[in-house]
Amino acid sequence: MANKTRKALLVGFTAWQTNNAFKIYKEYLRRAGVELSLLKIDEYALCINKGVPNIDAKNYDFCIELVKDQYISTLFEKQGKPCFNAYQSMCLSDDKFLTFVKLSNEGIPLPKTISGNTDFDGLTIKDFKRSKEFKDKIEKEMKYPFVAKPTFGYGGKGVVIIKDRKEFDKFIDDIGQSPYLYQEFIKDNPGTDIRVMVVGGKVIFSIMRQNPNSFISNVSSGGKAIKYDATKEQKRIAVKVAKILKLDHCAVDFFNTENGAPLVCEVNANAGGIETNEELTGISQAEKFVEFIVGKVYKQK
Ligand SMILES: Nc1ncnc2c1ncn2[C@@H]1O[C@H](COP(=O)(O)OP(=O)(O)O)[C@@H](O)[C@H]1O
Ligand SMILES: [Mg+2]
Repeated sequence: MANKTRKALLVGFTAWQTNNAFKIYKEYLRRAGVELSLLKIDEYALCINKGVPNIDAKNYDFCIELVKDQYISTLFEKQGKPCFNAYQSMCLSDDKFLTFVKLSNEGIPLPKTISGNTDFDGLTIKDFKRSKEFKDKIEKEMKYPFVAKPTFGYGGKGVVIIKDRKEFDKFIDDIGQSPYLYQEFIKDNPGTDIRVMVVGGKVIFSIMRQNPNSFISNVSSGGKAIKYDATKEQKRIAVKVAKILKLDHCAVDFFNTENGAPLVCEVNANAGGIETNEELTGISQAEKFVEFIVGKVYKQK
């Protein structure tokens, strides 16, 4: 048992995940005596033949899931092999409205947010249209301008400001059945937000992102990360958020409010930017994550 080779699997999709992130995790895990293999989500074909899958979770001690992949996660978790992050937690953070449902009634400060289209389990409903009543309801709750964003969005893509009913009518027609949510526009310091990185229930660093050209602060949309020490209260809330969602590695993003009060914008499981964050803060989130995982998986062995 003591000499058994420690093995793990990393599941990734984007070029950054399968090249950069894989290499970084592989090296930190190598130092901990764990051999890491890569599974590219766009290349693998999980085959169940005569009731037996062609990937055997028994060959690995754990899985690092950089994407939400229900098949590999379920395969691993069914055999008692942990996934980091756990599948259920990945689902909660992937769906921005589900995140807020889970964080509601927990004393977490959240902006006023309304669920838009739900996912009709992939069903295409011909000529689906939102009613006038639905639009009136949102209009009544939200003052113009308000924000609409894709429920499963990332990188600031598709986040828009809606300034009047004319724009709202057009927007609703354009999105069809796509899942979107509606949110009050936070006008304090637009284009900036505060990211608190939590690994294994502890804050490991915080940064600020600033975009002088847009209200969208994401680095992939032109924002720039700078050094920033979040407030004690933001850090406390970030740890609480990670705990509620049971996320072992996540970035909890806050609006940059005028008075510094914490106000959660969204939560990202397995947030990227490992290299740039390390340059800025001197701390590697991958190293901290590996430390946490290895401590958890091998602690009794
Ligand atoms: N309600 C809002 N009010 C003002 N700005 C917002 C609001 N929601 C999002 N933003 C801006 O848009 C960016 C992207 O939105 P976010 O919810 O984080 O989605 P994504 O997953 O695409 O990053 C945020 O970082 C913030 O700068
Ligand atoms: Mg974001």
